[in-house]
Amino acid sequence: MSIKPEYLKLFANVTERAAYRASKFIGKYDKESADQAAVDCMRKEFNKIDMDGKIVIGEGEMDEAPMLFIGEKVGTKKGQKIDLAVDPLEGTNFVAKNLPNSFSVLAATEENKLFFAPDTYMEKIAIGSNLPKHLVDLDNSVEKNISLLAEAKKTSPDKLTVCILDRPRHEKIISSLKKMDVNLKLISDGDISGIIYTVDPNSPVDMYMGIGGGPEGVLAAAALSCYGGQIQTRLVLNSEETIRAKKMGITDLKKKYNIEDMIRGDVMFCATAITNGDLVRGIVDQKDFFEASTVALHKEGKINTIYNNKHKK
Ligand code: FBP
Repeated sequence: MSIKPEYLKLFANVTERAAYRASKFIGKYDKESADQAAVDCMRKEFNKIDMDGKIVIGEGEMDEAPMLFIGEKVGTKKGQKIDLAVDPLEGTNFVAKNLPNSFSVLAATEENKLFFAPDTYMEKIAIGSNLPKHLVDLDNSVEKNISLLAEAKKTSPDKLTVCILDRPRHEKIISSLKKMDVNLKLISDGDISGIIYTVDPNSPVDMYMGIGGGPEGVLAAAALSCYGGQIQTRLVLNSEETIRAKKMGITDLKKKYNIEDMIRGDVMFCATAITNGDLVRGIVDQKDFFEASTVALHKEGKINTIYNNKHKK
């Protein structure tokens, strides 16, 4: 069984409408309102779809998020059972400050096939497609992972590019990469795109590494699973999050999750740009309609496309 192909367009409609709502806040320096607009709209649009949907990765746990909380049921309950990971606005700062690379994003799997992760930080390492399985590993030193990738790509470290969030917590990794003369792509936010760069033929990025949001890690894994890329992750938990993770049934708190542990079986992924992005063009607001561009992927349907859709306002 796989996800019925007709869902891809319906899901793209959800991220496109959510992206449009968020686009009203581009440059308004108000990331909360932008996020709220995208969340409200995404939920409303989900509830029009004939599916028995459940939010598995969402805005947080039930007591902290009124909408799209983990476990919330969405859809008319008439169609296929589907698990959903959502990030209605990825890159809240980008919208608030009118910077490129903000998206509305979702991923869908069949029931119980999506990593049920708490909303915490996550260590991540990702590489592109056509490379030996499990080539790199979070327990390796930076030097070892770079050498392994250079060898597999028949190149040298100084020809590789690594994408990483520009954060003080990554100082050690960055200094190791500098010592090896690796090229850096430092991003201020938005590590879903940062990870997708590894499979984008138009991007120089060969590897993504560092700590970022857990939900973003699972969403990026969904995309990579469609492209044949690889990602390994491990939760980063403080003491309060450790209790939450245990309550969610996670017993091995140090477990390394490979892509096949996070995304099991078929998956769909939609990311609609709000501001212009490296991957797709942002929302274009016309008089009676708006135009939206979406990266739309379906693993079993072998669909890897960009939708350019016009919607009536
Ligand atoms: P928001 O869109 O929720 O603001 O997240 C943006 C983001 O940059 C993610 O892409 C990334 O995973 C996370 O924040 C990193 O968190 P932090 O800013 O705390 O380092």
